[in-house]
Amino acid sequence: MSTVEDVKNQIDIVDVVSENVKLRRTGKNYIGFCPFHANTHTPSFVVFPDSGTWRCFGQCSEGGDVFSYVMKRDGCDFQTALELLAKKAGVELTPYTRDEAPREEKKRLYDLMEEAVNYFHNNLTQHPAGKAALTFLTEKRGLKPETIEKFRLGYALSSWDGLMQHLMGKGYTRQELIDTGVVSEQRDDKGEVVPNGRIYDRFRNRVMIPINDSRGNPVAFGARILDPNDSPKFLNSPQTVLFDKGKTLFALNDARSAIREKDQVVLVEGYMDVIVLHQEGFANTVCPMGTALTDFQAKQLTRQTKHIVLALDGDAAGYHAAVKDIDIIREATASEMPGDSQALLRQENRLNVDIRIVTIPEGLDPDEVVLENPDLWREIIDNAKPIVIHMMETLAKGRDLSDAKTKSEIAAKVMPLIREVPNAIERETYRQQLARFLEIDESLLTYGGSLANAGNGVKRAFPAKPRLKTSAGSMVFDPKDSFYNKENEILRCLYRYYENPGSLAAIDRTLRRFRLEAMSPADFNQTALHEIASVYFRALDQDEELDTKEFVEKHMPESVKEVFLTLKNKKPDNPSETQELDEEILRSLAFMRQEKCEYDKSELQALLEGSDPKSEEMRNFEEMLDRTIERRRRLDILIDTINTIDFKDGK
Ligand code: UTP
Ligand code: MN
Repeated sequence: MSTVEDVKNQIDIVDVVSENVKLRRTGKNYIGFCPFHANTHTPSFVVFPDSGTWRCFGQCSEGGDVFSYVMKRDGCDFQTALELLAKKAGVELTPYTRDEAPREEKKRLYDLMEEAVNYFHNNLTQHPAGKAALTFLTEKRGLKPETIEKFRLGYALSSWDGLMQHLMGKGYTRQELIDTGVVSEQRDDKGEVVPNGRIYDRFRNRVMIPINDSRGNPVAFGARILDPNDSPKFLNSPQTVLFDKGKTLFALNDARSAIREKDQVVLVEGYMDVIVLHQEGFANTVCPMGTALTDFQAKQLTRQTKHIVLALDGDAAGYHAAVKDIDIIREATASEMPGDSQALLRQENRLNVDIRIVTIPEGLDPDEVVLENPDLWREIIDNAKPIVIHMMETLAKGRDLSDAKTKSEIAAKVMPLIREVPNAIERETYRQQLARFLEIDESLLTYGGSLANAGNGVKRAFPAKPRLKTSAGSMVFDPKDSFYNKENEILRCLYRYYENPGSLAAIDRTLRRFRLEAMSPADFNQTALHEIASVYFRALDQDEELDTKEFVEKHMPESVKEVFLTLKNKKPDNPSETQELDEEILRSLAFMRQEKCEYDKSELQALLEGSDPKSEEMRNFEEMLDRTIERRRRLDILIDTINTIDFKDGK
């Protein structure tokens, strides 16, 4: 048990409140005049000993636990309230000190990477063996010396231990070399690492492209072959404590100011494209690490701008062979478009961004286009098309549009996409555009029509997923099982969920659709959890460019670190996929709110019975009861809906 819980268990909230409020027993609970607002006749302040909470049903309509009570009463922060109550409870507060060692160790790894960057850069610019690589970059790829300097490009010698010797000479350990992924470990026939086996330079005879984190520190390398017979063409650093490819965008730190200035980011496919585009003045360009654009990366970008342009290679085949896993982009070019584009559109909707697509002339890469003609590149970007339009045109490419079957087929593929567009005006405009494009009467394009054969009303019925254990469908309030567990469980889910924070918007949108408030720290009545939740929500709006979890760790107040640690380390009751987490969170939240409504309802009814008819409080309680019942009704509908519909689709 954490110290916070310990204190809470030792303290009787009725005692604490009684220090300044005269309480009267009503059945299980206690009521009195609220100390936080001026009262007239009827007491509206209730203390619930079973759950250890309080609530004002009068003017302030606030509530919480014993900590928030003291915080509000004394106007102090959580730490002070905790200290005061701990003293009262005779619980000793041991200061929670963060282990500083990992941070120091991590710093050495950053320094090691810096050293490696310098070593490779030196090879490229000074070493005779780097000459071929330098010539390749400057003459074949059009890089200027300043660009090579700016990106600190390098060259890895054809040696098995060049970097290793260099770094060990600087005092770095074998383990540190392994931890940063600059060396590979010896493996046996089964592919298992040989314990204490040989280590050797991971990168040999390659052009080295340093990959920086969002703050500009080198954390990994992308390494391109020089010898066309070598493979793979690009060898990237493995995932390390410093490098998570799903959370890294190449050149983001260099691109940031240009992205903000142009209020637009251009996503291309390759490192070389980014480097050349930056050189030619298009510095608002980044690329993912040869992987799918993750929600995390998308969120990282949308913090800078809502305008994202995807620049796809014209040479789709070669592109697919090289980066078959840049899903988000591939999805937009694949022949099975509707399904995949639907995913893309959903990503767009979820993140509330404007995603546009451009196609680069057949057989060319962005770097070649811009080196050939910078104006052409500008024109291409300016001509970026919304996803729906892009699909329409791509599907029609090389087809005979006068053919009835072709028209019908394109309509069938595009209408489901149009149906996904959340904004009604936009949606209708696309529908008209498609009609004009296909030269058919608009009335033929219905969302559920026969020509399009789309939107035939088939809803994907989601099987009811297992719920969080604590909210297992019991609608009856059980005071012994305080909300603590439920709030705790939701927070735990949120913590895991925050690897994928972009999807949080889906939860809020759904709540809004059911005219319910967005999830917020206010959903957490337990002060310690409320504090933690506040940090979580702040992490979504931060300007610090930190990974959400990093932000959460960094800003967690000392007073709740212990609670936070237990929360973070506890295994979930129902381990589930991240995609399912949003549904799980929404469901649990709905159940929790529903139970809280029940709780409020019964107390309000009791208050109504005890209050003067026709008094102002009476009317107040009545109104509040009505609102609570209405809220409860909306929550019921939401829960019914979650059970039958994929809420993320907004259908
Ligand atoms: P490309 O093959 O298009 O590379 O792969 P590029 O950047 O245009 O390089 P050049 O122009 O041929 O020199 C695009 C991206 O896919 C990833 C890399 O991130 C690369 O920049 N990739 C490609 C890999 O991770 N591994 C590979 O083997 C190939
Ligand atoms: Mn290329």
